[in-house]
Amino acid sequence: GKGNHRHFMEKELHEHPAVLGDTLRQYLDPGTQAVRLPRLPFDPAAVPRLTISACGSAFLAGLVGRYWIEQLARLPVDADVASEFRYRNPPLPSGGAAILVSQSGETADTMAALRLLKEGGQRVLSVVNVPESSMARESDAAVLTVAGPEIGVASTKAFTAQLAVMACLAIGIGRARGHVSAADEAKLTAALLQVPSHAAEILARDAEIQALAVEVAKARDVLFLGRGSLFPIALEGALKLKEISYIHAEGYAAGEMKHGPIALIDSNVPVIALCPSGPLFEKTASNLQEAAARGGRIMAFTDEEGAGPLSRFAERVIALPRVGAFSTPILHAIPVQLLAYHVAVLKGTDVDQPRNLAKSVTVE
Ligand code: M6R
Repeated sequence: GKGNHRHFMEKELHEHPAVLGDTLRQYLDPGTQAVRLPRLPFDPAAVPRLTISACGSAFLAGLVGRYWIEQLARLPVDADVASEFRYRNPPLPSGGAAILVSQSGETADTMAALRLLKEGGQRVLSVVNVPESSMARESDAAVLTVAGPEIGVASTKAFTAQLAVMACLAIGIGRARGHVSAADEAKLTAALLQVPSHAAEILARDAEIQALAVEVAKARDVLFLGRGSLFPIALEGALKLKEISYIHAEGYAAGEMKHGPIALIDSNVPVIALCPSGPLFEKTASNLQEAAARGGRIMAFTDEEGAGPLSRFAERVIALPRVGAFSTPILHAIPVQLLAYHVAVLKGTDVDQPRNLAKSVTVE
């Protein structure tokens, strides 16, 4: 049941610290501060290229994985939604491998991508939440997210658990390829192991996000912006808002704004910015400032360090706990999900069973 929560989605949002802790401790050893992955179906040091494919939020978790794996493991990654991948007829490298991501393990397009990849001689690893699913069975190996059953149609804890697994895979693959040192591995592991407590801190700041939701609920259109590994989280924020509040939302790479979407900016369009301090802060902040100069209402998620500069032009700034750049996508996913939740509640929609959507899309 929902316990004392109004919706399954709310209950599942509040399971973030536990689910992230369970998933991370499954693949990270707190004692040795090292990654502890099950045997992969490919040799990370020898594989020439990786294909990542999935649908919806699971694809966006895969997209964050692409940023991490390319960065940490220097391994080229191709990422595409399964419904495109399956008809794209892409050339697949000999000795190549693939990672498929799915909560249910039953999504029709992702299953089709799996079969195509196997026919194309790729070794397939799936990241799934349901151990007895079709995808887990048909893949060469499966890594499980430890999210427990997810009832709300909008993915929450399963998505962040997918991110947690992708992070562990990126470190492990990076280590195997010699691009992550033992010292780096320990640092990244320690940082990830702090994510559950940071997640709890964010959930405790619900009132701030509810206040933001009041503004967002009045809008007809909303933009989400992020750069680097926060770009997929901007897409996730927009997807989640669309799914459950039925407000039109778009996610963009912050640097892409001036190539078109900035034309949409006026004082009626809230711009939700994911802009943690770190290497991409200045660039993102300057994109936001351009939007603010055109009347855009900037609502920024950042951290204590980013809050100062952003509050010079942003209407609202929410400072999340300061974490290393690596963990920021996991932590920023939580407030954008919470935001969508509160907007949907204000709008009075059917939060757990949004119109036209199914939890698991088993037809093409
Ligand atoms: O079960 P899967 O992870 O394969 O499902 C993929 C998508 O259908 C799913 O993530 C969908 O986008 C969610 N409704 C997102 O909230």
